[in-house]
Amino acid sequence: MSLKDKLEVLKNETSKKIQAAADLATLNQIRVETLGKKGPITEVLRGMKDLSAEERPKVGAFANEIRDYLTAAVETKKTELEQAVMDKALAEEAIDVTLPGRQVPVGGRHVLTQILEEIEDIFVGMGYQVIEGNEVESDHYNFERMNLPKDHPARDMQDTFYISEETLIRTHTSPVQARVMEKHDFSKGPLRMISPGKVFRRDTDDATHSHQFHQIEGLVVDKNVTMADLKGTLEVMMQKMFGADRKIRLRPSYFPFTEPSVEVDVSCFKCGGAGCNVCKYTGWIEILGAGMVHPDVLSMSGIDPEEYSGFAFGIGPDRVAMLRYGVNDIRSFYQNDVRFLSQFKGE
Ligand code: PHE
Repeated sequence: MSLKDKLEVLKNETSKKIQAAADLATLNQIRVETLGKKGPITEVLRGMKDLSAEERPKVGAFANEIRDYLTAAVETKKTELEQAVMDKALAEEAIDVTLPGRQVPVGGRHVLTQILEEIEDIFVGMGYQVIEGNEVESDHYNFERMNLPKDHPARDMQDTFYISEETLIRTHTSPVQARVMEKHDFSKGPLRMISPGKVFRRDTDDATHSHQFHQIEGLVVDKNVTMADLKGTLEVMMQKMFGADRKIRLRPSYFPFTEPSVEVDVSCFKCGGAGCNVCKYTGWIEILGAGMVHPDVLSMSGIDPEEYSGFAFGIGPDRVAMLRYGVNDIRSFYQNDVRFLSQFKGE
């Protein structure tokens, strides 16, 4: 058989083998055997040196042609087999995208967090800073600096949990006032802050008392701050929270750290003032305590009361939530009953 015929036979036989290859491994083996360094084509090309100068280019060209032909055939088959592997995998792993998905229960923010954030937004919009205080506080800041010396009778209303003689868990957010005032640099502008957080009192828990609840402290100190500023600020807050036509009313009250002190009522958001069960038929709802920062509280924090004045207020978001949503037991906020909490998922 001439070299050319041999090559022709090789081409036909190998083509058949390639066509018949059932998987990629077999195909690769055929490729190595036929086209590899030790394969018959390489051998032919190597044997060319024995051919006549006339025949050499013809055989060489033919051998190259066959090598290219078979290489292409292997490539085509390879693509075919790979596609088959892929088709099989896709068929086996097919998912039915029309099946309804598994429901993932999504949580929401706690109703009290929602109220805190709502109030924060109102005040941030008016240029206040939000300051975090400490839940573990010293007697010094919680009481002394708030004008409640050791033997002051008003301490009784805020009896609490002492960690040591000098350390306690705070009974109100007011100590943040002192902490912020003593650090404030008035050359950078007035002091305007709110401070939300948990407070603790040694109360006997019942529907309206919890040993743990929340407050948001508000404080503004600058030159010429007046009671009118306090009233205007509280009115804006109440209208944003309870409706644009709310009115507020200030009644004289007492706090050791403010003078004068007031109790603030908001006109009832349910009946508009006519009287209903929410406002206990008075038309007004008691909502927060406030007043002008006591001159002694200012001077204890290094601020000259002759030059500066300020107002402060403390609001209870638990009470706001109870009023707004008709919740009649404050303990519900702290018992983590999902049936209760999921009613307030928000948007
Ligand atoms: N700290 C007071 C309380 O817990 C509330 C309050 C804050 C009153 C600021 C006046 C000014 O009852």
